[in-house]
This record gives sequence, structure tokens and C-alpha cells, in this order.
Amino acid sequence: MQFDVVIVGSGIAGLFTALRCSQRGFSVLVVTKSRIKSSSTNWAQGGIAAVLDPSDDEAIEAHVQDTLSSGKGLCDEAIVRSVVVEAAHRISDLVSFGVGFDGDSQGYHNAIEGGHSTPRILHSKDRTGAEIEQALEMAATSVGSATLKINEDWMAVDLIQTDHGTPSSGVSGIWCLKPDGSVVKIQAKSVILATGGCGMLYNSTTNPAVSTGDGVAMAHRCGADITDMEFIQFHPTSLHGVQRPFLITEAMRGHGAVLMTRKEHLAWRSHGGDPADWSYMKGQSPLGSLGTRDVVARATDMQLKISGDSHVLLVTEHLESEELRLQFPTICERLENLGITFGRDPIPVRPAAHYLVGGVSVDEFGRCLSQGLAIPGLYAIGETARTGLHGANRLASNSLLEAVVYAERCANHLRDYVSKSASFSDIPDWRADGLSSLEEHAPLGTDLMALRNTMTRDVGLVKSDSRLSRASRRIRHLSMEFEKIWTSSLPTRELVELRNLIICAELITGASMERRENVGLHYNIDLD
Ligand code: SIN
Repeated sequence: MQFDVVIVGSGIAGLFTALRCSQRGFSVLVVTKSRIKSSSTNWAQGGIAAVLDPSDDEAIEAHVQDTLSSGKGLCDEAIVRSVVVEAAHRISDLVSFGVGFDGDSQGYHNAIEGGHSTPRILHSKDRTGAEIEQALEMAATSVGSATLKINEDWMAVDLIQTDHGTPSSGVSGIWCLKPDGSVVKIQAKSVILATGGCGMLYNSTTNPAVSTGDGVAMAHRCGADITDMEFIQFHPTSLHGVQRPFLITEAMRGHGAVLMTRKEHLAWRSHGGDPADWSYMKGQSPLGSLGTRDVVARATDMQLKISGDSHVLLVTEHLESEELRLQFPTICERLENLGITFGRDPIPVRPAAHYLVGGVSVDEFGRCLSQGLAIPGLYAIGETARTGLHGANRLASNSLLEAVVYAERCANHLRDYVSKSASFSDIPDWRADGLSSLEEHAPLGTDLMALRNTMTRDVGLVKSDSRLSRASRRIRHLSMEFEKIWTSSLPTRELVELRNLIICAELITGASMERRENVGLHYNIDLD
């Protein structure tokens, strides 16, 4: 199997790049380890932040400033400006691929989320990600498999490095686990990592089960720079008490919903008045419940620790319930299945791991870097990449924007790169000799549980030096045990995912130990 471009992952970043590359006449293969739609994109509710008139300097500047302020001084300002200015073009691209955003003849409807000073979030009710995924999937599958092939249930295991060499010699394909359990080599002039984040490291996450840090771990094994891993974003309002993770979009707070503890809610119910005045968020941020995520999630966590409650409440009783139903139909349906009615019942929520702000360091074209230099043929986009847009705390709804902007840039850069690339060289087969099947080892689920418990307890919203040291020891031990299994076993998806999660856990813990200041999403009580 030989392709111009192999893309790992089928969310907005992967599919948009695939479409663009096939339009340029490249042969493209997308591999996705589950179904096409099993991506984080498909679960995104709120929307995509965008100023639709690139000549509106004031609006552009406001989006830039909100992004910088949310990023707490660690954004790359030049990148922020360039991404914000490009938004309008990429929105029209999405629309031309069939994405429908809410609006009327006057224009699109703009929602507001935490940290935004003005409404600028395009959305499709509360299922924006699903709308984007659906449209891009339809566009990609209608291209025809002669130029754009999508292999579901194919899992990338590792990158093939050119001449088995150093990062500077580049990447020339991937090893891939097929549904029948065999590992095949797929040669490619370029590989794009678009595998999303690693929310599965935490017991409570808003991410789908595929979020196991595959792209970050693969790039790390090949010598890429991995940066800002200490910035794990927790979303303040994940629905509490359900098996399958479910987000309650921040756009609900943008619409007027207010966070309260159980006690505050009871007090407000008996005294009345402005609900925001009763919320613990009142003293925490000038924006109250709509503060940036780092602030709201940490304040919520603190309330839970003080009260011993398992959740706080997202209060909507003061809002027009029919309006809520219209704006948030997916959430409404999910809640009604649980016996919770908008405008009547408070919604139980708690913070959950939501987004990996750091990742593989890339340049302005999405090229992966190693010691600051581009690795030939290797790109990372979307949540897998660290572009410099988000700084220490991503502004809500900037992630779909970043993904589509970098997908376009990457496809543009590939135009030259692919045409200049040498033809394919010989690569030996996967090391398969003497490997035993996995059943001979202890169940991997136990190791996964231990890893997730460690990350949740010790490397979560609130860290400390002793917790980080304890986590680091435990993860090192797990990693050593795992290495024995890995080197002697035939790979399975479960095994490959655990390998990648362990690496991400090491990277997050290491980066958290190294950062000696509290900033944005990184908070260590010993640095206070
Ligand atoms: C949300 O809808 O609250 C999530 C949006 C985001 O993570 O950017």
C-alpha cells in the first residue's frame, strides 16, 4: 500500500485535510481505529468561534484579545492573529462542504461561551460537531475510493521512520493494525496525525473512548517535540450520574444558565432575586458562571471539596423553557430521558477532562518539530497538535477553528512537499516472530484502571508536588511492566492504546512537575 498522504483520524482535522488533498489530486488514505464518526468532533456541542468579516478590525481584535486573555500570557500572539483572521474563509469552506450553521436571512446566529466578550460562536443547535462530521463524511465518501480511501477499524501503531533514522531523516509511512489482527506497513510520502486528545486518561471525561493520545505518543516515539502537556482542560459542566459521558455545553451558560451549589440553590429558591447573585461564581470571576474554563472548573472543584457533594447544579428555572428546548434539543432529550426537565429541574454537573491543550509542537503549516526543526513528512493537526493558539487555557470553541485552519494550511504545504518527495524505498516487515498472544498476560483493564485512577487523583485539576511524585513513580512502574508485555505480545487495539496512554501520562506528569508557576490550567497547591 503506497499513498501520497496517510491521515490518522477522522474528525474535522482529518476529514477536512483528506478532502483538500484529494482535490489537489493526491492519493489519500484515512485510517481510523473505530468508525468514522467515533471522533471527538462528532461529540462537540457548542460551536466554532469565528469573526465572519475579516475586514472588521474591531471584531478581529476582540477575538484576538479574548484568546490571549484566556491563554494567560502563553499564547503565540502571531499565531492567534493569523488563525482569527483566517476564520471567515474556513467557515465558507465548511459551508461549501455542506455544513449548515443556524441563522436566518440576516446572517448566522452567534452564541456566547465562557471567556468571550461578545457572541461570536457559530453553531448548529447543540450538535455542531455532529453537523460538521456528517457533512465532511458525506463529502469524503462521495469523492470515491480511487483517490480518497477511508479504512475503518484500522489502527495506526507506529510511524515508519525513513532509513530507520533520526527525526531529521523524516517519516515515510505507518505500521497499521488491521481488523484481522495483522500489522501491515502503509508507505506514504507524508503522514498527518489527527487523532484528537487523551481524555481517556481520566475517570471522568467528556471525550469518546477513542481519545487515547495515539498521535501524541506516536510522534513522541519518533522524536517529536511534545509541549504544554500540563495544560489539561477540564470542562466545568459534564452531566453527573451517567455511565456514558455527556457534556452540557457552555452555550447554556451563555444563554443564562447559572452554576450553584445545592445550598445556594435552596437559598435562591426561598429568597428569589437574580440567580447570579447566589452563585459561588459571583466572587470568582467578573463574568460569573461564564468565566474562563480554568477558573470555573477549579472553583467548582473547590465547592465540591468543601461541601462533600458529588455535583453542583446548573440552574435554568429562571429561563424560558421553550426557548431552551429549541436551542438545545439534544441536551433536552438526554435530560428528559433521565427525568430532568429544562426550566424546572436543576441539572447535576461536575468537571470532567475535556481537552488536551498541549501536544505535538508544530509550525504554522502543521509540520511536527523535533528540537525546533521540521520532521520531513510528518504533520499534526487538531487537538493532537500544539500550535501556540491556546496558551495555558484554550478559549471555548477555538478548537474546531484551529483544526480547520491548520487542515487547510497543512494541505497547502503538502502541495509542494508531495510533488518533491522521492519515491518509496524498501521497508522490512513488522517484527512478528516469537510474539505470543495477549491472553498469556494479566488483564490489561486492571492496568488501565490503575493508570486512570492515578491521573484522576494526582494529576487532575489540583496538583501538588507530593502527588505528582507519587504519580510519576506509579506510572514508571506501570510503564516498565507494560514494556515486557509489549515486546513479547502480538499487538491488539487495547494494547496499543494502553501503550499510548502510558506515554501521555508520563508526558503530562513530567510537564506538570517541570512547570514551577501556576498559570491557566496548571495549578499546583505547593506553588501558591
Ligand atoms: C462546549 O460546548 O461547551 C464545548 C465547546 C468547546 O470545548 O470549545
